Amino acid sequence: MRDYKIAPSILSADFARLGEEVTNVIASGADIVHFDVMDNHYVPNLTIGPLVCEALRKHGVKAEIDVHLMVKPVDRIIPDFAKAGATYITFHPEGSEHVDRSLQLVRDSGCKSGLVFNPATPLDYLKYVLDKVDMVLLMSVNPGFGGQSFIKSSLDKLREARKLIDASGRKIRLEIDGGVKVDNIREIAEAGADTFVAGSAIFSAGKAGDANRYNTVVKAMRDELAKAKV
Ligand code: DX5
Ligand code: ZN
Repeated sequence: MRDYKIAPSILSADFARLGEEVTNVIASGADIVHFDVMDNHYVPNLTIGPLVCEALRKHGVKAEIDVHLMVKPVDRIIPDFAKAGATYITFHPEGSEHVDRSLQLVRDSGCKSGLVFNPATPLDYLKYVLDKVDMVLLMSVNPGFGGQSFIKSSLDKLREARKLIDASGRKIRLEIDGGVKVDNIREIAEAGADTFVAGSAIFSAGKAGDANRYNTVVKAMRDELAKAKV
């Protein structure tokens, strides 16, 4: 079995109680905090910045934080997220004039780097920068909002990305983001993903006020992953 990681997207969490939400979701067995940054320019929505990342660290969050930049341009804000405690910083090639330089900037800032591909963005960039990425993130929805449906053609794209990564022999995570649920996570794993972002599927689970509300859904995802044939 691959080393699967579940990455709840806090976009669907209760922002008024964010520290507690993140503590609870990690305690439920999730692995990575997926942190969606939107700028109302690259994508038509506006979310959170480095101050919130830093606040989570100050709150005591020790888990890896996976900062998904849906912003344009990206370079100015990369060092700020590194200082704020990001583990991974991923960005869209459309958000950078110089993709190779931005990837290098992420690593020089002390973080793990990643490139994000929208549903209609070809994987072409990847083959030239495989030595500079720690994560490849495939969007299985168009970026900007939680709660959208998984775009099926992402499965073929996952298979393609998995081949490229395996052929490189490098240790690169393959993450999928958008529309991941208990009922499709196994099929997504079988197509090659090893890191699963899930926002609405996790944060809509259970009863408000119950600290253990996310245990059942995270366990159900893990049980499905354990059945995946890869
Ligand atoms: C969308 C974001 C996602 C989003 C996923 O632009 O990048 O991380 O939160 O949400 P769900 O899991 O609800 O599709
Ligand atoms: Zn995301």
